[in-house]
Amino acid sequence: MSEKNLPPGPRSFWELISMIFQRQKNPIKLYENIFAKYGDVVFFKLASFRFVMLNDAEAIEQVLQTDAQNYTKSSSYDRFRIIFGNGLLVSEGEVWKKQRRLMAGSFSTKQIEKLHPIMVRETSAILNKWKVGEKLDLAKEMNLMTLEIISVGLLGKRQENDSVVLREALQDILEYLQSSRHLWLQLLIAPFPVKDKYQAAIKLEAMLPLKSTKKFLGSIQKVNQLVLALIEERRSKNLMENFLDMLIKTSGSDEDSKMSDQQMRDEVLNILLAGHESTANALTWTWHELLKNPEVYQKIKQEVHQVVKGETPMYEELEQLTYTRAVFEETIRLYPPFWRVSRKNKIPTKIKNFDIPEITNVIVSLYTIQRSKKYWKAPEKFQPERFLEGGEEHAKFAYIPFGAGPRICIGMNFAIVEALTILSTMIKKYDIEKAFESDPTYLMSLTLQPKEGCMVRVKKAKA
Ligand code: HEM
Repeated sequence: MSEKNLPPGPRSFWELISMIFQRQKNPIKLYENIFAKYGDVVFFKLASFRFVMLNDAEAIEQVLQTDAQNYTKSSSYDRFRIIFGNGLLVSEGEVWKKQRRLMAGSFSTKQIEKLHPIMVRETSAILNKWKVGEKLDLAKEMNLMTLEIISVGLLGKRQENDSVVLREALQDILEYLQSSRHLWLQLLIAPFPVKDKYQAAIKLEAMLPLKSTKKFLGSIQKVNQLVLALIEERRSKNLMENFLDMLIKTSGSDEDSKMSDQQMRDEVLNILLAGHESTANALTWTWHELLKNPEVYQKIKQEVHQVVKGETPMYEELEQLTYTRAVFEETIRLYPPFWRVSRKNKIPTKIKNFDIPEITNVIVSLYTIQRSKKYWKAPEKFQPERFLEGGEEHAKFAYIPFGAGPRICIGMNFAIVEALTILSTMIKKYDIEKAFESDPTYLMSLTLQPKEGCMVRVKKAKA
């Protein structure tokens, strides 16, 4: 295929170098500037790496759905293989297909309903520890809540000691994965004749005699020991109490459905990590917006107090929380936890009428397309009504907080049920008051987080 019709984009050496520094400082500003200057499909080359950036619904549909078979996850996911192994987030081809099929049952509506009491119990346990009048950081509390929910839901209630080990180890792992040291290592390796520079950078990074690297490798070992021991224990018990039991049950003994302990470990780690940080960030941003928009907070309170009859929500009541759901959906439009996803084409492809050479990293920019004037009215405004019945129409691929196509988030329904459960349980018990002065700034690593957290004061709820 000819490469004559490449998308526009930065070509000058100095512009590319300045982009690297801008990316470190403020990636969103960089994305916005690039799309404003070159349009919504952009191509550039950095050392020997090729990149395309997308901010266009039709192009995104092509990459994530219509032509998905021509793409794999991009090299940027390779770094996660150290911890995610061959789990769902990073596996490809036949392994991914088999695992996705095997795991679909564990994420069905029926199974999520079974996990709902755990969501309520773990949320209440944390809320009961809060003291009226005290100042706390909701970002930390949301993280703790979603981590407790996913680890108890997945592995069952553990002894306190195990939970602490798991919590601390997962935090170390996330911290390490979120650093951008590997990007600099890649550029350092770029001039050398190494075949797979990305893998080489990852290996080099793991060999660096740094305290953080040692801590990370030690944490992986701890998590492995704990999870493998649990798999062995649950396999011998033949129970049906948690998510891991479901995984063990769905994986049979024949070739089509067999899952080794190692594969099961990988899936457990994928779900533990993918299944808590993203929802916690989405919930923290929801509280930021509720506290900035008192009229929305008032409406959501009214709905929750009207619908939820007891102290905590019943599963059947969640469906009636339509405004609360719209608030959550609007939040993840403005603050998609995964602010970009990326792919790599195995063969030369076409995106719109452009020629894309093979092995190009394609970055889909969720944050900018979900705030694009091309697709949204008053895109910067927080307006949950957009997502109510009869609200604003939008191009399907301009709203993809959970991704799209075959690799769409498998935990989407879990996340929505969990978010509605946490929000309504909190609102029933407490009134939350703002204890921060200015809007938070962005911390953009693996996920989009408010750098300053979310400081609040809690009061007893008045209906
Ligand atoms: C608000 C919360 C969440 C958001 C915004 C979110 C977002 C996403 C996105 C954008 C992807 C696609 C990544 C890509 O295309 O490269 C994804 C994949 C995935 N998510 Fe989520 N997620 C959330 C919650 C969860 C939860 C609660 C779980 C598990 C309990 C989970 C498990 C996964 C897994 C395993 C994948 C990989 C699926 C595959 O490749 O087949 N996520 N998520």
